[in-house]
Order: sequence, then structure tokens, then C-alpha cells
Amino acid sequence: MQELSVRHLLGIKDITPQDIQLIFETADNFKDVLNRPIKKVPSLRDITIANVFFENSTRTRLSFELAEKRLSADVINFSSSGSSVKKGESLLDTVNNILAMKVDMIVMRHASPGAPHFLSRHIEANIVNAGDGTHEHPTQALLDAFSIREKYGEVAGKKVVIIGDILHSRVALSNIFALQKLGAKVMVCGPVTLLPKHIKELGVKVELNVRKALEWCDVANVLRIQLERQQMKYFPSLREYTLYYGIDKKLLDSLNKEITIMHPGPINRGVEISSDAADSSQSIILNQVENGVAIRMAVLYLLASKR
Ligand code: CP
Repeated sequence: MQELSVRHLLGIKDITPQDIQLIFETADNFKDVLNRPIKKVPSLRDITIANVFFENSTRTRLSFELAEKRLSADVINFSSSGSSVKKGESLLDTVNNILAMKVDMIVMRHASPGAPHFLSRHIEANIVNAGDGTHEHPTQALLDAFSIREKYGEVAGKKVVIIGDILHSRVALSNIFALQKLGAKVMVCGPVTLLPKHIKELGVKVELNVRKALEWCDVANVLRIQLERQQMKYFPSLREYTLYYGIDKKLLDSLNKEITIMHPGPINRGVEISSDAADSSQSIILNQVENGVAIRMAVLYLLASKR
């Protein structure tokens, strides 16, 4: 049996193109399972997984929980709000207490970049990074690339532009790594203040004009403005951002080709994307969410088999 080159999924940077292909092939099988009347397999029957979330989440937390339940794992959920973290307990003490209850795997979201990497140096359990601050969100990038593969048959050679707040986005960084490992061409587009200074060193194209970016690409992955991570004003107003970088159907219809629209969610309708674009036939936003469950099943299954 093929296996992953890693014990933890901390970031896309750490995994190989072969790892990604193995995750995709495994997710193909789990997607078939999810389309059956009985959507459950016994693969992780003896495994207990803790979803440990120190930051808000809708899609990722529910998607992991559903993936775990579809694999027949035992699941516990921890949210830092309402927990003893509020009484001063450290990250390591919190996780070690959870592990003392005979938990085998940790899925963690944390506001601090590197938090899952820190944990991986101190605990034995497998760790899946469900988003660490502005750093990486590996399963999001995997489900994004899987959705592009599903739409076009392959990722290699596709032109993908990531539009918006690249500076504060873990989705952008993980997508850049995943898409490049799979042979796609990647561009980033946004106000210059929301693009990291040295982004070109990652081998991506940079475009400040959104129309030119859309004319270049096959796929546009539209990101939210991450106001919760912004300590200062990066642009005059949301209204002005929408005027220059907002994607709407009129703009999409004015292009000389039909491109695919993606968004990792949560969407701020009327800011980075209009409802008529988000809900159009060009949008695969809900396909991304659907694929997230199969991708997370694949990641958990493959990591569990490394135990
Ligand atoms: N895409 C994503 O990570 O969404 P949530 O923050 O709702 O999990």
C-alpha cells in the first residue's frame, strides 16, 4: 500500500506532489462512498480524534467532524471559547490533557502561525493543521486543487489567480504551494498593500489590475478581506475595495471566455464578490465544500495508517 511521506499534515510546503496525488486518489474513493445511500465506512473504527479549535470556523470544523464520523472514528470537539484556556491553561497543557483521555489524532486550528508545528515537537499523536494564523491551511488547498482537477480533469497547466487579501491569507500560501506542486501557473492579484513584499520569490505572477488577471486565468479563487487580522488600514474603505477588486457577473460576462469562480468561504457578499457571481453557474464554491469532506477523510485515513 502507498503511504504519505509525513506523519502529520502541518502544511502543503512539507508534502510531495506524490503525497497530493495519493490524497486525491484516496479522496476519489471516499467521494464515491459519500454518494452512496450508506455514507459510512469502518476504516477508523478504533481511532479517537479531537477537533481542537482556538479560532472560529464553520466549514473546516464541520467538514472534519463529518469526515471523522463517516470513517467511524470516535470524535470529541474542543472550542477555546468556554474552555479552561480562559483560566490561563497553556496550549500544550490543554492538548496533553485531551491526549490523556486516549485520543489518537488532533485536528487543530490556532491563530498563531506555527502552533501545530510546535505541538508536533511535543506530542506523539498525529496532527492535522486546520489553519494556523496567516501561515497555512493545507486541507483547504487540497480541496481547492481537487475541485480544479474535478472540473478540468487535471491541475497541470491551468492558470489560477488568487484575488484579494493575500497578505493575511493562509489559504493563499497553501494554494500557491499545492498548485505549483501540481504544475499549475499561479498569479496573485490585489491592492499592493495586501500583497506580501517578497511574494514574487514564490514564483507567482503579480497583477494589480483585476480585469487583466481575470483575462489571464482559467480559475479565479476569490478571498475575503481578513479584517480580524488587520492592525491598520490597508485601503481607504470596503466600498473602494469593491469598486476596484470586487468580482461581479457583469465583469465576468465582459471577459472573452468563461472562467471558473472559487471562494474558500466565508463569503462577504457585496464586498469581494457579488451574489450574482457567487451563485452563478461559473461558481464551484459549494462543490469545494462538498469535496472538503472527501479530502479530509483521505487525509485522516492516510495519516492513521502511518500510526
Ligand atoms: N474556509 C474556511 O476555513 O472556512 P471556516 O473558517 O468556516 O472553517
